[in-house]
Amino acid sequence: MTAVNLVLSVNGRDYRLTLDARVTLLDALREQLSLTGTKKGCDQGQCGACTVHVDGRRILSCLTLAASVEGKAITTIEGLADEGGLHPMQQAFMDHDAFQCGYCTPGQIMSAVACVTEGLAETDDDIREYMSGNLCRCAAYPNIVAAIKQARIDMQRGRS
Ligand code: FES
Ligand code: FES
Repeated sequence: MTAVNLVLSVNGRDYRLTLDARVTLLDALREQLSLTGTKKGCDQGQCGACTVHVDGRRILSCLTLAASVEGKAITTIEGLADEGGLHPMQQAFMDHDAFQCGYCTPGQIMSAVACVTEGLAETDDDIREYMSGNLCRCAAYPNIVAAIKQARIDMQRGRS
């Protein structure tokens, strides 16, 4: 094992870690930082459950080495809400019942926020296309689309 010392900036807080250089960001978040909101579904880039933001862009944390994101701003589902309450996307998922078991939900929400901020959620077809990397075994897809449409309006009004 090759150990590396690094500082990860997660949800506005710096964490000093010593890790095997091969550790993924997903495992570092869950196993080292106890941030278990980010889920491990397939662990091979197929399901989107592990989606987080790095410098505002969505990435699959199971395919990203922790050492490769040192110095970048990492946001997980735990960092999305602020003192003002839930993020509009979180609220919209609740309002529209956009989950059943909830396992895919953190990844869905992180992807959905990025979709809106990237301007890729203007139509239902766009939402379905740009959210297609996030699988939901409970098939809550129609409710997820409805939630994203509501949150898009709220976020564009500047309530994000
Ligand atoms: S756990 Fe990363 S894409 Fe499935
Ligand atoms: S809510 Fe169960 S997998 Fe999506």
